[in-house]
Amino acid sequence: MEAYRNAWRQSIDDPRTFWGEAAKAISWYREPTIILDDSRAPIYSWFADGEMNTCFNALDRHVQNGLGDQLALIYDSPVTDTKATYTYAQLLDEVARFAGVLGDLGVEKGDRVVIYMPMIPQAVISMLACARLGAVHSVVFGGFAAHELAMRIEDARPKVVVSASCGIEVARVIEYKPLLDAALDESSHKPDKCVIFQRIQAEAPMLAGRDVDWVDAMSRATPAECVHVLATDPLYVLYTSGTTGRPKGVVRDNGGHAVALQWSMPNIYDTSPGEVFWAASDVGWVVGHSYIVYAPLLAGCTTLLYEGKPVGTPDAGAYWRVIAEYGVKTLFTAPTGFRAIKREDPQGALLANYDLSRFRYLFLAGERLDPETYSWASEQLDVPVIDHWWQTETGWPIAANLMGLDPLAVKPGSPTVPVPGFDVRIFDESGVEVGPGVEGLIMIRTPLPPGCTSSVWGDDNKFFEAYLSYSPGYYLTGDGGHFDEEGYLFVMGRVDDVINVAGHRLSTGEIEEIIAGHPDVAECAVIGVADDLKGQVPRALAVLKAGVDRDHAVICTELVARVRNQLGAVASLHQVDVVTALPKTRSGKVLRKSMRAIADGVDAPVPSTIDNPDTLEALKTILRPE
Ligand code: COA
Ligand code: AMP
Repeated sequence: MEAYRNAWRQSIDDPRTFWGEAAKAISWYREPTIILDDSRAPIYSWFADGEMNTCFNALDRHVQNGLGDQLALIYDSPVTDTKATYTYAQLLDEVARFAGVLGDLGVEKGDRVVIYMPMIPQAVISMLACARLGAVHSVVFGGFAAHELAMRIEDARPKVVVSASCGIEVARVIEYKPLLDAALDESSHKPDKCVIFQRIQAEAPMLAGRDVDWVDAMSRATPAECVHVLATDPLYVLYTSGTTGRPKGVVRDNGGHAVALQWSMPNIYDTSPGEVFWAASDVGWVVGHSYIVYAPLLAGCTTLLYEGKPVGTPDAGAYWRVIAEYGVKTLFTAPTGFRAIKREDPQGALLANYDLSRFRYLFLAGERLDPETYSWASEQLDVPVIDHWWQTETGWPIAANLMGLDPLAVKPGSPTVPVPGFDVRIFDESGVEVGPGVEGLIMIRTPLPPGCTSSVWGDDNKFFEAYLSYSPGYYLTGDGGHFDEEGYLFVMGRVDDVINVAGHRLSTGEIEEIIAGHPDVAECAVIGVADDLKGQVPRALAVLKAGVDRDHAVICTELVARVRNQLGAVASLHQVDVVTALPKTRSGKVLRKSMRAIADGVDAPVPSTIDNPDTLEALKTILRPE
């Protein structure tokens, strides 16, 4: 505990020394002299006058240091029966040429590029190529439908969109190009060009004058050099669900991001250059950004891009096969993947087929790690199972068991302790800090450490209002939890309208907006309810407009389809119920918390401010689990 405590204490008491030291692990064109700029507090900047390039740090410097022949990227795709590898020199060559393609299409420092791609190497190459040019990428998860893509294009205003003809969901081919075309029809902003990577599973028709073929453009490209950027220049924007219907563009800078991720690899993940690190996530999520693409490459590791699922591609031994085949040391994924494996192979029988002797750690995040999944994974794998807690906004873990710095005893249900740089506090609902054992809102004292978001894209005010206005000097995480007497943090779940479905972050407000847009719906409420596999799934209650006499079952089917078509299949909304009224307070606020409690079978007191208690009572027959 002592090494951890000392590091954490120094990071809080003397952040300039702590992060100034960490910054030495990054190659700078101009070393930062201003480590922390607090002149615009509560908006802080790290390494304000430093100049660097993230792609240079992820690729070029390793090649220059003689690691050119080491594997940088392994692509394993059971859904297409393809495997490929890229050494650092090969990946650099691809990235530099694709940066040349983007440059020829007019992309310059500061321009945005939207990337809408499945889990193929071209997605990683596109991201790094943007970083090389100082352009700002915005990756949109492939499971999002056209409307979600359109909202992001509208907000990010990209010069170019990079996409592929299709993705593959187990055995189902999902054509991306029609979704992209529909999104561009809907969006008022039109990019100049779309670069399309054609996959043989579904070739996409191209629009003359706008669409550019990836392979064709690459065959003519001249490699582009790294562009110098300020540490504070944006590297990417990643949209994430908040409490409103519109996703927020989380902005990540270059310098702080590189320093934080580089620091995290040895200290949190205990993974060194040359070792194989596998984040089984998707490049469309923050875990994919940080731990499929940037951190392993910044640290000179080999990263793994897996286009498959934990089960069904072909079976529940898929993860063990990948770990054994490539000598994975560290696996990072979401608990839901392990619940899926456990459901199909409860005894872990498939493990016997694989040699996992090089496997050392399983890190889990993205949702609460339930003690049952923790115990099952620990027993089956015989390696430390590390729960760690973070958010798109922070970009790296807020709380973890730091395996490279000072491994601590595990307490199931707790992601252990705050990571150096994060001064975590618990507040009650009136904004007063509470002590150990008391449940409350989890806040982080500002400044947040390097790597955390510095703004909402195009809107500093929104950043301030969403995260910093609740209590001056503190960042509102949106999660609830408590510390125990020994300083272990317990994260119990969101206290706002964000839900986590199979590790995918969704906004109930956004689903409500889509349902409310149906012509027969007067009002609705969406809540997250517990689910054995996915952790949470949404359930919707809809009140119909007076006079609507269509069959309720037909309307519910239409509402399910509407959410799937507008948000995407990942919403996993399968149950909508028509009700006569929603429970509300006298001031008209829908009592979602009370509904959630009923659905989860928890006996919560009925709020004294309720206007229509009968409505809540009536919901028991609909929501209460058997
Ligand atoms: N493109 C298109 N569709 C996608 C998609 C993508 N990239 N990702 C998911 N979908 C679809 C799925 O095919 C599914 O469609 P369906 O309703 O027609 O079956 C739907 O979205 C829901 O997906 P998901 O919630 O992932 O459920 P699933 O039943 O397909 O798989 C798990 C369940 C647990 C196997 C899966 O969620 C998983 O592998 N999770 C791993 C954790 C993870 O990657 N988390 C990300 C953050 S770390
Ligand atoms: P995302 O921004 O998609 O990474 O989702 C962030 C949210 O996921 C957090 O605010 C938490 O609600 C949840 N989360 C992530 N990791 C954990 C964890 N280890 N324990 C509990 N909740 C988690």
